[in-house]
Amino acid sequence: MDKKYTDSEIIEAWQINAGPWIKAIGAGEIESRLLVTNKAIIDAVLNGKPRNILDIGCGEGWLAAELSAKGINVFGIDAVPALIERAQQIKGGTFAACTYENLSSYEFNRRFDCLICNFSLIGEKSTESVIAAAGKLLEPGGRFLIQTLHPVAACGALPYQDGWREGSWAGFSKDFTRPAPWYFRTQETWKNLFSRSGLEINAIHEPAHPRTGNPASVIFDLSNAKSASQ
Ligand SMILES: C[S@@+](CC[C@H](N)C(=O)[O-])C[C@H]1O[C@@H](n2cnc3c(N)ncnc32)[C@H](O)[C@@H]1O
Repeated sequence: MDKKYTDSEIIEAWQINAGPWIKAIGAGEIESRLLVTNKAIIDAVLNGKPRNILDIGCGEGWLAAELSAKGINVFGIDAVPALIERAQQIKGGTFAACTYENLSSYEFNRRFDCLICNFSLIGEKSTESVIAAAGKLLEPGGRFLIQTLHPVAACGALPYQDGWREGSWAGFSKDFTRPAPWYFRTQETWKNLFSRSGLEINAIHEPAHPRTGNPASVIFDLSNAKSASQ
């Protein structure tokens, strides 16, 4: 893809589409989430029996609500104030507006035993900021769970190489406008990114879509092996 986008365009797009997004999640309009990926991330998180979670790019807060209902403390951050306001109104958990770019300087006054990014690592540098901040946000031995588009399944007809791609709201209601661009990474690039920040891969899950049999996502289950010295 030749066209170069920027990370700030992603935030702008989410600001514009916050209303339709709140409606779509509330009405259960995303089939793959209902059939596969919601359960996949919840199972992966609960598997580690966390007590204090940071939900990074929490959106309107559905995952924080699910996990809070199980007695887990959840702090959610997102760049879009309208999504944070929604999360504060109706969900369990604590929420604050904060961008990934400001994550490492945000005063949480604590570390977390689990970080989650559920389909929220979309950009180029912004994603790198989150991965780089993870070591300082996690308790020693903590876990970082990232659910994202599966690099092979989501590659489509374009070459299997890193780069910006045009977004699309195909399959969503006509209320959505201006899709967010996204930065495609190969599986190898994701792994190198984790390794550069001292994150080790515990497991990689590839939940399959029951109708197509193709991976609906990939979940990287990481731990901060070097955190004790950070
Ligand atoms: C696809 S939504 C996922 C929301 C939520 N995690 C979920 O599972 O429904 C992506 C989210 O990432 C947030 N986001 C994208 N780039 C961001 C950035 N640089 N800083 C903070 N939030 C960002 C958007 O505002 C949006 O809420």
